[in-house]
Amino acid sequence: MKKSPVAVFSTWATNGKDEGMERNHKAAVENMLEFATEEHAHFSFIDAGCGNGWVVRQVQQLPGCTSAVGVDGAAHMIAKANQLDPKGNYFCEDLMAWTPKEKVSLVHSMEVVYYFKAPDALLQHIYTHWLLPKGRLIVGLDFYLENPSSHGWPESCGIDTMQLFSENQWIQFFEQAGFQGVQSWRVGAKEGWSGTLVVTGTV
Ligand SMILES: C[S@@+](CC[C@H](N)C(=O)[O-])C[C@H]1O[C@@H](n2cnc3c(N)ncnc32)[C@H](O)[C@@H]1O
Repeated sequence: MKKSPVAVFSTWATNGKDEGMERNHKAAVENMLEFATEEHAHFSFIDAGCGNGWVVRQVQQLPGCTSAVGVDGAAHMIAKANQLDPKGNYFCEDLMAWTPKEKVSLVHSMEVVYYFKAPDALLQHIYTHWLLPKGRLIVGLDFYLENPSSHGWPESCGIDTMQLFSENQWIQFFEQAGFQGVQSWRVGAKEGWSGTLVVTGTV
């Protein structure tokens, strides 16, 4: 029987699969961060669905970073983040229910936003409650319509909520939420793999 995304990923934190995600997502995340951090001399940062917190630990070392927060619904992921970085700011919360104490200039999210029944509502929530004026959301997606080699993941991972949308549908979700200057591109495309779809826009 399939399980919820946070139940499955909490298990992944205890069997080391979180470290595999870090290795597999690193190149796309570097591309996303390079794009998103260059526009601000100083920026505050949230990683939405931070897993074990590896991106938060990386970003908080950047000279322009004024604060870095990680949020994830999987208890074992957040326990691991706290263990690896006891002084870090990590929250074990459902992204749809959580609101930061202070809005930030950059929200990053790698391989997360399609695990929601209504991803458009999540984008709207982030737009309205998380981001400062002119703030940016940048998301990376490996599970999308134009990447057929990902389509079997709900079965192979045993996850009950994974929403398959096209690149154009993701762009529309961003625009409907109110994001401006929406752009998309792919990172790391090769034979049999369409690459990580990156979508971004500003408030
Ligand atoms: C594929 S993992 C990616 C983790 C991390 N971004 C990385 O690249 O290593 C997806 C993450 O989204 C989190 N997640 C899924 N649904 C969530 C929800 N409703 N609220 C909070 N986190 C959620 C999972 O717990 C999991 O850690």
